[in-house]
Amino acid sequence: MIPLSVYIHWPWCIKKCPYCDFNSYKLQSEDAELFYLNALKKSLNRVTEEVSGREVTTVYIGGGTPSLLSPAAIEEILSAVRKNLSLPSSVEISMEANPGTFEYEKFKDFKRAGINRLSIGIQSFNDEKLKILGRVHNSKDAKKAAEAAAEIFENFNLDLMFALPGQTMEELTEDLETALSFGSTHLSYYQLTIEPNTYFGKYEPKNLPGDELRADMSDFVVQSLEKAGFEHYEISGYAKKGYQCRHNLNYWMYGDYLGIGPGAHGKITQSSDIFRTVSAVNPKHWLDKIEEGGNGFVKKTKVKKEDIPFEFMLNALRLKQGVDSSLWQQRTGLPLNLIAGKLNKLRHQGLLDPSENLIKATPFGWNYLNDLQEEFLSPE
Ligand SMILES: C[S@@+](CC[C@H](N)C(=O)[O-])C[C@H]1O[C@@H](n2cnc3c(N)ncnc32)[C@H](O)[C@@H]1O
Ligand code: SF4
Repeated sequence: MIPLSVYIHWPWCIKKCPYCDFNSYKLQSEDAELFYLNALKKSLNRVTEEVSGREVTTVYIGGGTPSLLSPAAIEEILSAVRKNLSLPSSVEISMEANPGTFEYEKFKDFKRAGINRLSIGIQSFNDEKLKILGRVHNSKDAKKAAEAAAEIFENFNLDLMFALPGQTMEELTEDLETALSFGSTHLSYYQLTIEPNTYFGKYEPKNLPGDELRADMSDFVVQSLEKAGFEHYEISGYAKKGYQCRHNLNYWMYGDYLGIGPGAHGKITQSSDIFRTVSAVNPKHWLDKIEEGGNGFVKKTKVKKEDIPFEFMLNALRLKQGVDSSLWQQRTGLPLNLIAGKLNKLRHQGLLDPSENLIKATPFGWNYLNDLQEEFLSPE
Protein backbone atom coordinates (compact mmCIF):
# COMPACT_ATOMS: atom_id res chain seq x y z
CA MET A 1 0.00 0.00 0.00
CA ILE A 2 1.34 3.45 -0.90
CA PRO A 3 1.59 5.66 2.22
CA LEU A 4 -0.77 8.64 2.29
CA SER A 5 -0.03 12.09 3.75
CA VAL A 6 -2.23 15.15 4.08
CA TYR A 7 -0.95 18.68 3.40
CA ILE A 8 -3.12 21.62 4.52
CA HIS A 9 -2.22 25.11 3.31
CA TRP A 10 -3.00 28.33 5.22
CA PRO A 11 -2.01 31.15 2.84
CA TRP A 12 -1.77 34.24 5.08
CA CYS A 13 1.08 35.98 6.91
CA ILE A 14 1.42 39.25 8.86
CA LYS A 15 3.32 40.60 5.87
CA LYS A 16 4.97 39.22 2.75
CA CYS A 17 8.73 38.66 3.08
CA PRO A 18 10.78 40.03 0.15
CA TYR A 19 12.47 36.68 -0.67
CA CYS A 20 9.39 34.47 -0.42
CA ASP A 21 7.86 32.75 -3.42
CA PHE A 22 5.38 30.61 -1.48
CA ASN A 23 1.67 31.03 -2.04
CA SER A 24 1.26 33.50 0.80
CA TYR A 25 -0.40 36.89 1.18
CA LYS A 26 -0.63 39.68 3.72
CA LEU A 27 -3.55 38.97 6.04
CA GLN A 28 -6.24 41.59 5.39
CA SER A 29 -9.32 40.41 7.19
CA GLU A 30 -9.95 39.38 10.78
CA ASP A 31 -12.59 36.97 9.55
CA ALA A 32 -10.14 34.95 7.46
CA GLU A 33 -9.98 32.15 10.03
CA LEU A 34 -13.73 31.69 10.03
CA PHE A 35 -14.13 31.68 6.24
CA TYR A 36 -11.12 29.46 5.86
CA LEU A 37 -12.28 26.89 8.43
CA ASN A 38 -15.72 26.58 6.87
CA ALA A 39 -14.25 26.10 3.42
CA LEU A 40 -11.52 23.75 4.59
CA LYS A 41 -14.02 21.43 6.29
CA LYS A 42 -16.16 21.30 3.15
CA SER A 43 -13.08 20.69 1.02
CA LEU A 44 -11.95 17.87 3.32
CA ASN A 45 -15.38 16.18 3.18
CA ARG A 46 -15.31 16.27 -0.61
CA VAL A 47 -11.65 15.52 -1.25
CA THR A 48 -11.42 12.48 0.98
CA GLU A 49 -13.72 10.57 -1.36
CA GLU A 50 -10.60 10.28 -3.51
CA VAL A 51 -8.80 8.17 -0.92
CA SER A 52 -11.59 6.47 1.05
CA GLY A 53 -10.49 3.67 3.38
CA ARG A 54 -6.81 4.59 3.35
CA GLU A 55 -4.83 5.33 6.51
CA VAL A 56 -2.92 8.61 6.85
CA THR A 57 0.71 8.45 8.02
CA THR A 58 1.45 12.19 8.32
CA VAL A 59 -0.39 15.51 8.39
CA TYR A 60 1.36 18.85 7.73
CA ILE A 61 -0.19 22.27 8.26
CA GLY A 62 1.97 24.71 6.31
CA GLY A 63 1.82 28.16 4.83
CA GLY A 64 1.91 31.05 4.97
CA THR A 65 1.92 31.35 8.72
CA PRO A 66 -0.48 28.79 10.20
CA SER A 67 0.57 29.80 13.74
CA LEU A 68 -1.64 32.87 13.18
CA LEU A 69 -4.57 30.44 13.57
CA SER A 70 -6.02 29.94 17.04
CA PRO A 71 -5.39 26.63 18.81
CA ALA A 72 -9.17 26.06 18.64
CA ALA A 73 -8.98 26.35 14.83
CA ILE A 74 -6.11 23.83 14.71
CA GLU A 75 -8.20 21.50 16.85
CA GLU A 76 -11.13 21.91 14.47
CA ILE A 77 -8.95 21.22 11.44
CA LEU A 78 -7.52 18.08 13.00
CA SER A 79 -10.90 16.78 14.11
CA ALA A 80 -12.20 17.35 10.57
CA VAL A 81 -9.24 15.30 9.29
CA ARG A 82 -9.99 12.55 11.82
CA LYS A 83 -13.68 12.56 10.93
CA ASN A 84 -12.89 11.90 7.28
CA LEU A 85 -9.74 9.80 7.43
CA SER A 86 -8.21 7.19 9.68
CA LEU A 87 -5.17 8.33 11.69
CA PRO A 88 -3.09 5.74 13.58
CA SER A 89 -1.62 6.64 16.99
CA SER A 90 1.85 6.87 15.36
CA VAL A 91 0.74 9.67 13.00
CA GLU A 92 3.17 12.62 12.66
CA ILE A 93 1.29 15.94 12.80
CA SER A 94 3.49 18.94 11.95
CA MET A 95 2.74 22.60 11.85
CA GLU A 96 4.78 25.64 10.76
CA ALA A 97 5.10 28.52 13.20
CA ASN A 98 6.67 31.97 13.06
CA PRO A 99 8.58 33.26 16.07
CA GLY A 100 6.41 36.18 17.30
CA THR A 101 5.28 36.51 20.94
CA PHE A 102 1.71 36.18 19.76
CA GLU A 103 2.69 32.78 18.34
CA TYR A 104 4.93 31.19 20.95
CA GLU A 105 2.44 31.90 23.69
CA LYS A 106 0.16 29.48 21.83
CA PHE A 107 2.67 26.60 21.48
CA LYS A 108 1.31 24.68 24.52
CA ASP A 109 -2.22 24.89 23.18
CA PHE A 110 -1.13 23.83 19.69
CA LYS A 111 0.29 20.69 21.29
CA ARG A 112 -2.93 20.14 23.23
CA ALA A 113 -4.81 20.48 19.92
CA GLY A 114 -2.85 17.52 18.52
CA ILE A 115 0.34 18.93 16.95
CA ASN A 116 3.31 16.65 17.75
CA ARG A 117 6.00 18.26 15.58
CA LEU A 118 6.59 22.02 15.37
CA SER A 119 8.65 23.72 12.65
CA ILE A 120 9.73 27.29 13.40
CA GLY A 121 10.81 29.71 10.66
CA ILE A 122 13.80 31.35 12.38
CA GLN A 123 15.86 32.28 9.25
CA SER A 124 18.64 33.91 11.31
CA PHE A 125 19.37 34.98 14.88
CA ASN A 126 21.12 38.15 13.67
CA ASP A 127 19.00 41.31 14.05
CA GLU A 128 20.54 43.10 11.08
CA LYS A 129 19.97 40.10 8.80
CA LEU A 130 16.39 39.68 10.04
CA LYS A 131 15.73 43.29 9.12
CA ILE A 132 17.18 42.85 5.62
CA LEU A 133 15.00 39.75 5.22
CA GLY A 134 11.97 41.86 6.15
CA ARG A 135 11.05 39.58 9.05
CA VAL A 136 8.58 40.80 11.65
CA HIS A 137 10.51 39.13 14.50
CA ASN A 138 13.88 39.96 16.04
CA SER A 139 16.63 37.77 17.41
CA LYS A 140 15.20 37.83 20.95
CA ASP A 141 11.83 36.55 19.66
CA ALA A 142 13.60 33.85 17.65
CA LYS A 143 15.47 32.61 20.73
CA LYS A 144 12.36 32.73 22.93
CA ALA A 145 10.37 30.78 20.35
CA ALA A 146 13.09 28.11 20.05
CA GLU A 147 13.27 27.84 23.87
CA ALA A 148 9.49 27.52 24.12
CA ALA A 149 9.47 24.82 21.44
CA ALA A 150 12.24 22.91 23.28
CA GLU A 151 10.25 23.04 26.50
CA ILE A 152 6.95 21.93 24.96
CA PHE A 153 7.74 19.70 21.98
CA GLU A 154 9.88 16.58 22.01
CA ASN A 155 10.16 16.82 18.20
CA PHE A 156 10.80 20.22 16.64
CA ASN A 157 12.56 21.79 13.67
CA LEU A 158 14.20 25.16 13.11
CA ASP A 159 14.34 26.63 9.57
CA LEU A 160 17.39 28.79 8.86
CA MET A 161 18.90 30.31 5.74
CA PHE A 162 22.52 31.06 4.83
CA ALA A 163 24.27 33.09 2.08
CA LEU A 164 22.33 36.14 3.34
CA PRO A 165 23.13 39.64 2.07
CA GLY A 166 26.44 40.75 3.56
CA GLN A 167 26.79 37.58 5.66
CA THR A 168 30.32 36.70 6.77
CA MET A 169 31.64 33.30 7.84
CA GLU A 170 31.78 34.62 11.42
CA GLU A 171 28.11 35.58 11.30
CA LEU A 172 27.21 32.19 9.86
CA THR A 173 29.21 30.47 12.63
CA GLU A 174 27.30 32.46 15.25
CA ASP A 175 23.94 31.56 13.70
CA LEU A 176 24.91 27.88 13.55
CA GLU A 177 26.08 27.82 17.17
CA THR A 178 22.91 29.50 18.36
CA ALA A 179 20.72 27.19 16.26
CA LEU A 180 22.44 24.15 17.76
CA SER A 181 22.03 25.38 21.34
CA PHE A 182 18.31 24.57 21.62
CA GLY A 183 18.56 20.81 21.14
CA SER A 184 16.15 20.58 18.18
CA THR A 185 15.63 17.16 16.62
CA HIS A 186 15.75 18.63 13.09
CA LEU A 187 17.26 21.59 11.25
CA SER A 188 16.42 22.77 7.74
CA TYR A 189 19.31 24.93 6.56
CA TYR A 190 18.51 26.52 3.18
CA GLN A 191 20.75 28.56 0.93
CA LEU A 192 18.91 31.83 0.20
CA THR A 193 17.76 31.75 -3.42
CA ILE A 194 16.61 34.84 -5.29
CA GLU A 195 13.26 33.89 -6.81
CA PRO A 196 12.11 35.82 -9.91
CA ASN A 197 8.58 36.55 -8.65
CA THR A 198 9.61 38.25 -5.44
CA TYR A 199 10.66 41.71 -4.30
CA PHE A 200 14.29 40.48 -4.13
CA GLY A 201 13.87 39.13 -7.66
CA LYS A 202 13.04 42.65 -8.82
CA TYR A 203 15.39 44.58 -6.54
CA GLU A 204 18.28 42.28 -5.80
CA PRO A 205 19.69 42.90 -2.32
CA LYS A 206 23.21 44.30 -2.09
CA ASN A 207 26.25 42.26 -1.04
CA LEU A 208 25.01 38.76 -1.75
CA PRO A 209 27.90 36.32 -1.14
CA GLY A 210 29.71 35.32 -4.35
CA ASP A 211 29.91 31.75 -5.69
CA GLU A 212 33.05 30.85 -3.78
CA LEU A 213 31.88 32.11 -0.41
CA ARG A 214 28.49 30.47 -0.94
CA ALA A 215 30.13 27.11 -1.65
CA ASP A 216 32.36 27.47 1.44
CA MET A 217 29.34 28.35 3.53
CA SER A 218 27.45 25.35 2.23
CA ASP A 219 30.36 23.00 3.12
CA PHE A 220 30.66 24.63 6.52
CA VAL A 221 26.95 24.13 7.30
CA VAL A 222 27.18 20.43 6.38
CA GLN A 223 30.36 19.85 8.40
CA SER A 224 29.16 21.76 11.47
CA LEU A 225 25.81 20.01 11.62
CA GLU A 226 27.30 16.57 11.04
CA LYS A 227 29.84 17.24 13.79
CA ALA A 228 26.95 18.15 16.08
CA GLY A 229 25.35 14.72 15.51
CA PHE A 230 22.88 15.55 12.74
CA GLU A 231 22.51 13.31 9.73
CA HIS A 232 22.48 15.25 6.44
CA TYR A 233 19.72 13.20 4.82
CA GLU A 234 18.37 15.54 2.14
CA ILE A 235 19.63 18.63 0.24
CA SER A 236 18.72 21.03 3.08
CA GLY A 237 17.50 18.55 5.71
CA TYR A 238 19.43 17.51 8.86
CA ALA A 239 18.02 15.22 11.52
CA LYS A 240 18.97 13.55 14.77
CA LYS A 241 18.70 9.76 14.54
CA GLY A 242 15.06 8.70 14.14
CA TYR A 243 13.81 12.24 13.55
CA GLN A 244 13.80 12.67 9.77
CA CYS A 245 10.67 14.54 8.76
CA ARG A 246 8.34 11.67 7.84
CA HIS A 247 6.02 13.98 5.90
CA ASN A 248 8.76 15.22 3.57
CA LEU A 249 10.22 11.71 3.34
CA ASN A 250 6.88 10.56 1.96
CA TYR A 251 7.11 13.17 -0.84
CA TRP A 252 10.67 12.20 -1.66
CA MET A 253 9.83 8.49 -1.60
CA TYR A 254 7.08 9.13 -4.13
CA GLY A 255 4.24 8.48 -1.71
CA ASP A 256 0.71 9.85 -2.10
CA TYR A 257 -0.59 13.05 -0.54
CA LEU A 258 -3.79 15.01 -0.48
CA GLY A 259 -3.17 18.74 -0.93
CA ILE A 260 -5.90 20.88 0.61
CA GLY A 261 -6.12 24.69 0.70
CA PRO A 262 -5.20 27.46 -1.76
CA GLY A 263 -2.50 26.40 -4.22
CA ALA A 264 -1.91 23.03 -2.53
CA HIS A 265 -0.70 20.23 -4.78
CA GLY A 266 -1.61 16.58 -4.36
CA LYS A 267 -0.58 13.19 -5.75
CA ILE A 268 -2.99 10.29 -5.62
CA THR A 269 -2.60 6.78 -7.00
CA GLN A 270 -5.92 5.28 -8.08
CA SER A 271 -6.11 1.78 -9.58
CA SER A 272 -2.51 1.92 -10.82
CA ASP A 273 -2.79 5.39 -12.38
CA ILE A 274 -1.02 8.37 -10.78
CA PHE A 275 -2.93 11.67 -10.64
CA ARG A 276 -1.73 15.13 -9.73
CA THR A 277 -4.16 17.67 -8.30
CA VAL A 278 -3.82 21.45 -8.06
CA SER A 279 -6.10 23.63 -5.95
CA ALA A 280 -7.06 27.17 -6.95
CA VAL A 281 -4.06 29.33 -6.07
CA ASN A 282 -5.77 32.59 -5.15
CA PRO A 283 -7.49 32.27 -1.73
CA LYS A 284 -10.63 34.09 -2.93
CA HIS A 285 -10.85 31.86 -5.99
CA TRP A 286 -10.37 28.77 -3.79
CA LEU A 287 -13.13 29.90 -1.39
CA ASP A 288 -15.46 30.58 -4.35
CA LYS A 289 -14.77 27.14 -5.85
CA ILE A 290 -15.80 25.51 -2.58
CA GLU A 291 -18.91 27.70 -2.19
CA GLU A 292 -19.90 26.56 -5.68
CA GLY A 293 -19.86 22.97 -4.41
CA GLY A 294 -16.39 21.94 -5.60
CA ASN A 295 -13.48 20.56 -3.62
CA GLY A 296 -11.13 23.46 -4.43
CA PHE A 297 -9.24 21.59 -7.15
CA VAL A 298 -8.85 23.33 -10.49
CA LYS A 299 -6.94 20.50 -12.11
CA LYS A 300 -6.64 16.75 -11.80
CA THR A 301 -4.35 15.25 -14.41
CA LYS A 302 -3.05 11.76 -14.99
CA VAL A 303 0.74 11.56 -15.02
CA LYS A 304 1.87 10.22 -18.40
CA LYS A 305 3.88 7.02 -18.21
CA GLU A 306 6.85 8.67 -19.91
CA ASP A 307 6.94 11.42 -17.26
CA ILE A 308 7.09 9.03 -14.30
CA PRO A 309 10.87 8.25 -14.35
CA PHE A 310 11.83 11.94 -14.07
CA GLU A 311 9.18 12.64 -11.40
CA PHE A 312 10.35 9.68 -9.35
CA MET A 313 14.05 10.63 -9.61
CA LEU A 314 13.41 14.31 -8.96
CA ASN A 315 12.27 13.18 -5.52
CA ALA A 316 14.18 10.00 -4.69
CA LEU A 317 17.63 11.29 -5.68
CA ARG A 318 17.31 14.18 -3.21
CA LEU A 319 17.74 11.65 -0.44
CA LYS A 320 21.36 11.17 0.61
CA GLN A 321 20.73 7.53 1.52
CA GLY A 322 18.90 7.00 -1.79
CA VAL A 323 16.05 4.49 -1.98
CA ASP A 324 15.76 0.74 -2.31
CA SER A 325 15.45 -0.24 -5.99
CA SER A 326 12.24 -2.13 -5.17
CA LEU A 327 10.58 1.22 -4.33
CA TRP A 328 10.36 2.00 -8.05
CA GLN A 329 7.88 -0.79 -8.75
CA GLN A 330 6.04 -0.38 -5.44
CA ARG A 331 5.34 3.30 -6.07
CA THR A 332 4.94 3.46 -9.84
CA GLY A 333 3.55 0.00 -10.62
CA LEU A 334 6.06 -0.14 -13.50
CA PRO A 335 8.79 -2.78 -13.99
CA LEU A 336 12.35 -1.83 -13.11
CA ASN A 337 13.55 -2.87 -16.56
CA LEU A 338 11.88 0.28 -17.91
CA ILE A 339 14.74 2.33 -16.41
CA ALA A 340 17.37 -0.41 -16.03
CA GLY A 341 19.41 0.69 -19.07
CA LYS A 342 19.64 4.26 -17.82
CA LEU A 343 20.46 3.16 -14.26
CA ASN A 344 23.27 0.93 -15.53
CA LYS A 345 24.73 3.67 -17.72
CA LEU A 346 24.79 6.12 -14.78
CA ARG A 347 26.28 3.45 -12.48
CA HIS A 348 29.09 2.92 -14.97
CA GLN A 349 29.68 6.66 -15.17
CA GLY A 350 30.10 6.75 -11.39
CA LEU A 351 27.10 9.05 -10.92
CA LEU A 352 24.95 6.41 -9.22
CA ASP A 353 25.93 3.96 -6.49
CA PRO A 354 27.07 0.65 -8.09
CA SER A 355 24.74 -1.49 -5.92
CA GLU A 356 21.82 -2.80 -7.95
CA ASN A 357 19.65 -2.85 -4.82
CA LEU A 358 19.90 0.90 -4.44
CA ILE A 359 19.00 4.00 -6.42
CA LYS A 360 21.38 6.51 -4.90
CA ALA A 361 23.64 9.32 -6.12
CA THR A 362 27.36 8.91 -5.40
CA PRO A 363 29.19 11.91 -3.85
CA PHE A 364 30.37 12.64 -7.43
CA GLY A 365 26.79 12.39 -8.77
CA TRP A 366 25.57 14.63 -5.94
CA ASN A 367 27.64 17.48 -7.45
CA TYR A 368 25.61 17.17 -10.66
CA LEU A 369 22.25 16.37 -9.12
CA ASN A 370 20.16 18.42 -11.56
CA ASP A 371 21.85 16.86 -14.60
CA LEU A 372 21.51 13.42 -13.04
CA GLN A 373 17.77 13.89 -12.50
CA GLU A 374 17.35 15.29 -16.02
CA GLU A 375 18.87 12.11 -17.49
CA PHE A 376 15.49 10.53 -16.72
CA LEU A 377 13.58 13.09 -18.82
CA SER A 378 14.32 11.25 -22.03
CA PRO A 379 13.55 7.65 -22.93
CA GLU A 380 16.43 5.10 -23.01
C1 LIG B 1 6.95 27.55 3.81
S1 LIG B 1 8.34 28.51 4.19
C2 LIG B 1 7.72 29.47 5.51
C3 LIG B 1 7.58 29.10 6.91
C4 LIG B 1 7.17 30.27 7.79
N1 LIG B 1 6.04 30.96 7.26
C5 LIG B 1 8.27 31.28 7.96
O1 LIG B 1 8.48 32.11 7.08
O2 LIG B 1 8.90 31.28 8.99
C6 LIG B 1 9.51 27.35 4.75
C7 LIG B 1 10.94 27.82 4.73
O3 LIG B 1 11.46 27.96 3.43
C8 LIG B 1 12.61 28.77 3.50
N2 LIG B 1 12.59 29.71 2.36
C9 LIG B 1 11.58 30.48 1.94
N3 LIG B 1 11.96 31.22 0.87
C10 LIG B 1 13.26 30.91 0.62
C11 LIG B 1 14.23 31.35 -0.35
N4 LIG B 1 13.94 32.25 -1.27
N5 LIG B 1 15.46 30.78 -0.30
C12 LIG B 1 15.77 29.86 0.61
N6 LIG B 1 14.91 29.41 1.56
C13 LIG B 1 13.66 29.93 1.56
C14 LIG B 1 12.57 29.52 4.83
O4 LIG B 1 13.60 29.05 5.67
C15 LIG B 1 11.21 29.15 5.37
O5 LIG B 1 11.19 29.08 6.76
S1 SF4 C 1 8.63 33.44 4.37
FE1 SF4 C 1 7.00 32.67 5.67
S2 SF4 C 1 6.26 34.50 6.79
FE2 SF4 C 1 7.44 35.25 5.06
S3 SF4 C 1 5.90 35.58 3.47
FE3 SF4 C 1 6.78 33.52 3.14
S4 SF4 C 1 5.41 32.15 4.19
FE4 SF4 C 1 4.99 34.24 4.97
